[in-house]
Amino acid sequence: MSGQDASKSRSQGTRGEFHAFASKLLAAVQFQQLYPPRHPHVEQGIKDLFEQLSKQLELRGAIRLAVTPTEFLFGSIQIPLDGELLEEMAKLLHAAGVQKLEFFAGLEEWETRKFLDLLIASPDQLWALGGLAEAIASEGITHVVVSTIKIGTAGTAGTTDPESLFRTWEAYSTGLRLVQSIRGRVRADGTITNVDKAKEFARELVELAVRETQPLLAVQALKTHDDYSYTHSVNVAMLTVAIATSLDFPPDHLHEIGVAALLHDVGKELIPLEVLNKPGKLDEEEWVIVNRHGRDGARMLAATDGIGDLPPVVSYEHHLAYHDDLRADPDWSPHLASEIVCIADVYDALRSERPYREGLPPEKSMKIMEEDVGRLFDPDLFEGFFKMMGYYPPGTLVQLEDGAMAIAYASNLDDPRKPHVLLVKSASGSLVDPPERLDLSQSGPETQIAALADPDEVGVDPLDVL
Ligand SMILES: [Fe+2]
Repeated sequence: MSGQDASKSRSQGTRGEFHAFASKLLAAVQFQQLYPPRHPHVEQGIKDLFEQLSKQLELRGAIRLAVTPTEFLFGSIQIPLDGELLEEMAKLLHAAGVQKLEFFAGLEEWETRKFLDLLIASPDQLWALGGLAEAIASEGITHVVVSTIKIGTAGTAGTTDPESLFRTWEAYSTGLRLVQSIRGRVRADGTITNVDKAKEFARELVELAVRETQPLLAVQALKTHDDYSYTHSVNVAMLTVAIATSLDFPPDHLHEIGVAALLHDVGKELIPLEVLNKPGKLDEEEWVIVNRHGRDGARMLAATDGIGDLPPVVSYEHHLAYHDDLRADPDWSPHLASEIVCIADVYDALRSERPYREGLPPEKSMKIMEEDVGRLFDPDLFEGFFKMMGYYPPGTLVQLEDGAMAIAYASNLDDPRKPHVLLVKSASGSLVDPPERLDLSQSGPETQIAALADPDEVGVDPLDVL
């Protein structure tokens, strides 16, 4: 190795070192999972990892590792995610939400031990501690630093992680198939099936939303809203989980809320199709039939084993507007989950094409809902929802004043009309590749939003760009 190569590797770390570190880390984790605390194997695993780290830190002062869906970055060398060892390692870090991991010279053995404990803690435990990064800091560990994937709150996000987007798409199709089979069975014999699959689906949504909410918002927003009967339940589940994730719910409750949202309208299967799909206005008798779907759903859900207590409640309460009797009762207040589902339900219904009208654009939908804040929608919840979506939710294609085309990817907390966007076509019509990020709240009048644009007409698929 030439002198130059040697100094290069000194600053960057080597593949060999990365493999040594990964195998020691995984061995230590496995021992911790298999043996009781303080067992000699556990102690040996910690000691080996600590020695390996110390050796590398002596040489380099710091060890920096980042993980993406396809590779590790170790210092500045790229290591593709192939082979069992690396896949295991990625899975481990992924489960703890770790995006970047750093060790610094001065690392002590107790820090290594405590870090390992936290790394393998359950999601519930980590949640209770405020997340891995926060837990590490509050333990007083100063020589290990992790950056975890944050919820995609407005203004802080960049473009989405391709793996999240792909998984969200998959979840969407799974959700559609699931709704189809649940509906078929309810229509056939009035029972609710596939409870386990609904729970699995909700778990996946929660996991995705905890990583970042943009893909959930974008995928449900871009799904054609013309097949309402199938897409509605899945869209409502995605929106609900996205809203609920930003609130203080523990993971188990989030899962239950996801199931409740997916099944909130299950009582509609008892409505005769000619009433359900009627293109014109419903008469009084038909309204009575439609309006009992919440109660019918609650009854069926309450008779379904293993579904939990929440889905019947949410089914019963989600049309709060229709429950004037309940609203008049000072002792009654709806479950928070019902209030969230109510927001998601109305938003998706407005956005969707219905037998009697076209789907409405996002800004118009939001403005209609603003009228009902305080009456139908809880003001705090609605504010959170509005901040997440803005008037141009992630995935919305817009034309700017100068003729350029851009895709919204995160709303701006202070101005719902000025989201963060990705410029995909310049004013002259040429493709901008890679897309350029622009914060419209910081840009001039020529780059403000002029109109919504149709992805098919413009020839841009927002999901390819996000
Ligand atoms: Fe409903």
